[in-house]
Order: sequence, then C-alpha cells, then structure tokens
Amino acid sequence: MTKINFRKFILINVFSIFRQKLRLFIFRSPIEEIVSLKSFIKYVKAKLIYRFHIRRFVLKKSKNSKKFINSGYVTFTNKNIHKECIKIFKKLNDKNVAWLDNVNDKISLSYNGDPSVFLKGELVNIFKSGVDKFLKEIFESDYKIIYHVLIKSNNNNSKTKPSGSMLWHSDGRRGTRINLHICHSYVSNENGAMKCLSWKDSLKVHFYTISEFTKSFALNNSSKNKKSKKDLREMKVNLMAKYIKDNSINYFQPKTNKSGLIYAFRNNNIHCGGFPKVGNERIISILNIEPSSEQTTVEEKFSQTHLKTNFNQ
Ligand SMILES: [Fe+2]
Repeated sequence: MTKINFRKFILINVFSIFRQKLRLFIFRSPIEEIVSLKSFIKYVKAKLIYRFHIRRFVLKKSKNSKKFINSGYVTFTNKNIHKECIKIFKKLNDKNVAWLDNVNDKISLSYNGDPSVFLKGELVNIFKSGVDKFLKEIFESDYKIIYHVLIKSNNNNSKTKPSGSMLWHSDGRRGTRINLHICHSYVSNENGAMKCLSWKDSLKVHFYTISEFTKSFALNNSSKNKKSKKDLREMKVNLMAKYIKDNSINYFQPKTNKSGLIYAFRNNNIHCGGFPKVGNERIISILNIEPSSEQTTVEEKFSQTHLKTNFNQ
C-alpha cells in the first residue's frame, strides 16, 4: 500500500469508528443515522400528541420510571401482577398447549401461536396494574406492542452450552424501542434470569467492541463481506464478553421466588438471556414496544396481533 493510500485507509477507519460511536451516543442505536433521525422525529410528534391528549404538559414520574430512564433497565411487580402471572403459569402448564423448538438455541421452546390472543385477559389486567402507566411515563407518550413471544427454557442436558441470545449482545434495533419481559415463573441465576448492564456501562462495551471490531478488519486488510453473519456476530459477542470480564463490569440479574416480575430494558443495553441450570425451568413473555402517536386503550392494544414476523423485527 502506498503512503497516501495508507493514510486514506486509516482516515476512513477512524471516521467509521467515530460515526458508529456517535450513532450509539446520540440515538442509543447502531442503525443508520437517517433511520434513527426519522424515528426520533416520530417520537417527538408522539410526545406532543400525548401531552395534548391528556391536557398536561408537566408529567410526573415514579421511582421505577426514573430508574429506567437513568440506567436503561428496571424491575418491579405488585400483588395483581403476581396473581395474573400465576394464572398464566397454570394455563401454560396444560398439556394441550403447543410449543415449538426455538431456532436461536437448544434449550428453549416458543409458544405456537400469538400469546397475546391466548393470554389476552390476564395481560390486559397486568397492563392495567401498573405496566401501562409505567410505559407512558418512560416514553412520555402512548405506545404500541410490536411483537410478543412466549418462551419456555428448560435445560435437560448438562453438556449444553450457552448460545445465541444467551451470550452478551445488544439487539441493534431503534433506540426508541424497549423490551418488556413478563416473568411467569420465578427468576434467578438457577433458572437463567436475564443479565443486563446499565446504559453507562453498555456504552463502554459498545465503544470497545466498535473500535476492536473495525481495527481487526483494517489491520488484517480484510473485508467484512467475506465473513458470514454468524462469524461476525461471534466476533462481536466475544469482544463484549472479553471487555466485561477484563474490566469486572457489574451486571444486574434479578432474583425472585415467585411469579410476576416485570423486567424492562432498552434493547441496546448489553444483555444476555438466561441459561438455566439442569432441571430449572423459566417461562417468560418478551414484548417489543415502541412509542406511538396513536392513542389507544389497553384493550385496543391487545385486540391486534402481536405475532413476530420478519417485518417487525
Ligand atoms: Fe436480546
């Protein structure tokens, strides 16, 4: 490589690292600036419409909402949520409920159908028992449910190793989107409760991963296009795990002894899904939610399908 080409090459990579970091810092997302900007404008519109709708411009926030806004994750529960989750847990243990193998790993099954239809009554009650209020407080707008998947994880084999979403990662979706887990079983380290980093620590991990990932291709003078999607993901996952381990980054992992924990987190906070120890089962609903300009009741939200498709990922 000539001297001029080498300089150009370095500049391109430095610019690429800077641009990727800036995207995460401003939009909390790795996706293209223009897409993030469009969803940010939509979000501002949703906030304004909501304020006009409720005829209030100063919005109060609970302790849970403040914690979520600061750290990017929070957990909470109450008696009603607990009661509804026990009903769901019993309903799901019926032999007639159909489950499919989860494509992402070897130990999870996903509910065969739209869980929002199957569990509509219980979910409406859960949302009316504090979840709806919480979501409106953190978004400062109304919201819509993009998809809902119901997962049952049960590790029957001591030789199984964590894979897929059980390894440290971020979802890479728009920064305005959040994940909401409704834990129908108890959750703890034993049954693989999800681990999550604060946004502040997530940014450190993201920044390290972006730099090392870009540098490794630049130094080897190779192209990302030559690697498979799976290999690229593995590289990122390993870099994240290395940084977390080397820097002893603290993570949050909930521990409960009964059903009904609500666990909300931003999709680009670094997290890793649970890996249950042999013989420990975990059943959770995973809902992907984003702000919306449309003002709807909880019943209206659950009258639409929440099936996960390639279009709403
Ligand atoms: Fe994830």
